Amino acid sequence: MTKPTIAVIGGTGQQGGGLAGRLARAGFRVVIGSRNPAKAEAVADALNVKTGGSLVTGADNKTAAAQADIVILTVPFAGQQETAREIAAALANKILVDATVPLVASDIGKVQLPNAGSAVAALQTALPQTKVVSAFQNVSHVQLQDLDREIGCDILVCGNDDDACNTIIELIAALGMRGYHAGPIENSAAAEALTSVLIAISRKYKNWDTGFRITGVKDVEH
Ligand SMILES: NC(=O)c1ccc[n+]([C@@H]2O[C@H](COP(=O)([O-])OP(=O)(O)OC[C@H]3O[C@@H](n4cnc5c(N)ncnc54)[C@H](OP(=O)(O)O)[C@@H]3O)[C@@H](O)[C@H]2O)c1
Repeated sequence: MTKPTIAVIGGTGQQGGGLAGRLARAGFRVVIGSRNPAKAEAVADALNVKTGGSLVTGADNKTAAAQADIVILTVPFAGQQETAREIAAALANKILVDATVPLVASDIGKVQLPNAGSAVAALQTALPQTKVVSAFQNVSHVQLQDLDREIGCDILVCGNDDDACNTIIELIAALGMRGYHAGPIENSAAAEALTSVLIAISRKYKNWDTGFRITGVKDVEH
């Protein structure tokens, strides 16, 4: 089966850059999206050098989303809704994987979810034609960007469309991680909150390799 092309909107940044590198190394075509296409192209060139291939290209956010089968959104919470609105036409009937965590700068180690409850669930409400899947809130860019590092934590995957969630769980497996369907999109609130819990643990124990593992699930192939 042909591998899907994946756009990473915000792929010039930390989390998106880490995911894009892992995707390219796993053989996926990746389009880095940016508000500034020249910046996207420069990051794409650097990722091609890092991964020893030519699978990564760069474009403005709208073009990147239009060129992709699956779109990953990795921009700060402050820009999440506006960025999604800007690319909405290209997202219809596609899967949008949203990694947003609505951290509050005054204390990122304290759970402070927005009034809507979950940043990602609110995006699904704003984009009814798009299959929004929540993932990657609880893995750090430090681990993702080190392409040779085995990632020891699991990925919670939430969404209302089971097929879309299963597609992303397979994608996560192709990146060498374990993804678990963790329920409807509203459950993303828990993944978003757990990021602050992880930050608090990392601060306390002075170790930024922290993560969560799901135990007790039988008969899952990864
Ligand atoms: N970093 C992590 O370890 C981590 C872990 C879990 C989840 N997350 C989540 O992943 C998302 C990205 O995090 P990050 O650390 O990668 O962020 P980042 O590096 O600060 O930003 C990512 C990219 O977003 C774009 N951007 C910045 N401000 C924007 C705005 N106001 N509006 C639209 N686009 C903007 C920029 O791209 P251009 O200038 O090229 O457009 C930037 O390179 C966040 O929602 C974060 O909560 C991050």
